[in-house]
Amino acid sequence: MTNPRILISEADIQQRVRELAAEISADYAGKPITLVGVLKGAFIFLADLSRHLTMPRSIEFMAVSSYGMRTTSTGAVRVLMDLRRSIEGKHVLVVEDIVDTGLTLHYLLELLATRDPASLKTCALVRKKERHEVDVRVDYLGFDIPNVWVVGYGLDHAEDLRALPYIGVVDPDDE
Ligand code: IMP
Repeated sequence: MTNPRILISEADIQQRVRELAAEISADYAGKPITLVGVLKGAFIFLADLSRHLTMPRSIEFMAVSSYGMRTTSTGAVRVLMDLRRSIEGKHVLVVEDIVDTGLTLHYLLELLATRDPASLKTCALVRKKERHEVDVRVDYLGFDIPNVWVVGYGLDHAEDLRALPYIGVVDPDDE
């Protein structure tokens, strides 16, 4: 595979993550929150974001079915790993790597809302708005990007390239 072309540099990501963390910390004003990271893609973003927050925070993970080894959406969302603790009465912030069609986040929000959290908000590093198939609210957004396949900073292409420190663009048909 040819090297990914840089779309968002490491420095730009780090600066934006600090800005988002400052905004979130100010909004919650010291209230404890539960961060729910959506595996696998959100693990690096969540690690960096959580370290810049200033309120008490607990970290939980969920895993949902994504595109597997392919790069097109099936529209089907399946919970592969659920939360281990109740979120009833908690302030929950769902942390996603990318919102593409919006189906995953939409499904997760509907599911988590049934569990009576005190509040439920969303944070995503990148969003491909033109690909949205459902209306989904992103309360804290890193970057809007065009309809390209991105890798790095947690995002993969067929399980490869997640550990790149920047967000790059690849041709999804390129093996
Ligand atoms: P959605 O349900 O279509 O919004 O897709 C969400 C999931 O698709 C993400 O959590 C990613 O796992 C995957 N995804 C969508 N676009 C990309 C991309 O450009 N690069 C890597 N993963 C992507």
